[in-house]
Amino acid sequence: MKKRLLVLTGGGDCPGLNTVIRAVVRSAYCAGGWEVIGSKRAFNGVLEDPQDLVTLDYHSVSGIHVKGGTILETVNKGDPFAYPIQDESGNWVIVDRSDDLIRRLNDLDIDAVVSIGGDGSQKISQKLFEKGVNIVGVPKTIDNDLFATDLTFGFQTAVEIATEAVDKLVTTAESHNRVMIAEVMGRDAGWICLHTAVAAGAEIALIPEIPYDLDKLVDKIQSRVVNNRGFAIMVVAEGARPKDGVVVSQKSKEIGYQNVRLGGIGYHLMADLQDRIDIDMRVTVLGHVQRGGIPVAFDRVLATQFGAKAFDLVQSGQFGHMVSYSRFAFTSVPIKEAISYYKFVTDDNYLLQTARNMGMCLGD
Ligand code: F6P
Repeated sequence: MKKRLLVLTGGGDCPGLNTVIRAVVRSAYCAGGWEVIGSKRAFNGVLEDPQDLVTLDYHSVSGIHVKGGTILETVNKGDPFAYPIQDESGNWVIVDRSDDLIRRLNDLDIDAVVSIGGDGSQKISQKLFEKGVNIVGVPKTIDNDLFATDLTFGFQTAVEIATEAVDKLVTTAESHNRVMIAEVMGRDAGWICLHTAVAAGAEIALIPEIPYDLDKLVDKIQSRVVNNRGFAIMVVAEGARPKDGVVVSQKSKEIGYQNVRLGGIGYHLMADLQDRIDIDMRVTVLGHVQRGGIPVAFDRVLATQFGAKAFDLVQSGQFGHMVSYSRFAFTSVPIKEAISYYKFVTDDNYLLQTARNMGMCLGD
């Protein structure tokens, strides 16, 4: 009898998810002796009644590696340990359905699970592993802020998208003698911002790790725009904040959504700058455009190797581990370790130093 492998995607989507799914399925097919089932919307496909599961075989994943998003769909409010349900009076309550999930996995004869997701999803993986589930993690985030892996797929694609957008802002900034503010994603870490700013040659990059001093930004802009002639490009991470200030966020009304919703720092920054200097400015918020579309070739190659490695971990019984790319090698780390730290841009980071060497203002 064939063994059964469950695959799912959780948390925010990311270019390359389908590439990983295909690689897991094809590796299992080529190894033989495995049947792969996909759970829709993270573990919800198992927890819902009726269940929403799909059989994934060699042919059903054909060509999906170039497709953005995830054929399994995703959700960032499907934590089985904090699952939103409506009680008899229609009120939403949060309940722990982890035991129910494990029972259902047993009823489905699932031998192993591959969970493709970011920090939040891997925290769930660790808790399930501690409860006896044979689970392997595949790291995912465009932010590239997972500590235990040098790279996550989707990041290069996001940087390409953001760089292309900023390149376009340069020509219009130059024509109109304007300051252009491009707000990019990156809630805790400024990797997308820093890479984009260096690739596009921006004058200013503001990352969450370095709270900015408005005076420094004004000086930099005034060195670039004199008598309304000249232009400047600023790339700002959504998680950036002024010294002694807070990040710009909105409350979410989505039931079970546990993240703080960031976005809007670009407009706040423009208002603050315009109180001080009389120069035309415009803001472009790139938002989810950075998470959409086809993965670039680099991410497809990385994601394919992540998927293949995840299946290797399943075959060798290395459960409770997450795939990792470290120093040009594909390896694995205990999920517990992977979720204990974030990978921030540190002062000694060579790209940060390089940005400074290019004369880029980092707000400090
Ligand atoms: O963590 C990845 C990320 O894209 C962040 O950069 C961003 O703040 C967040 O997800 C947005 O999440 P959502 O799609 O739930 O709004």
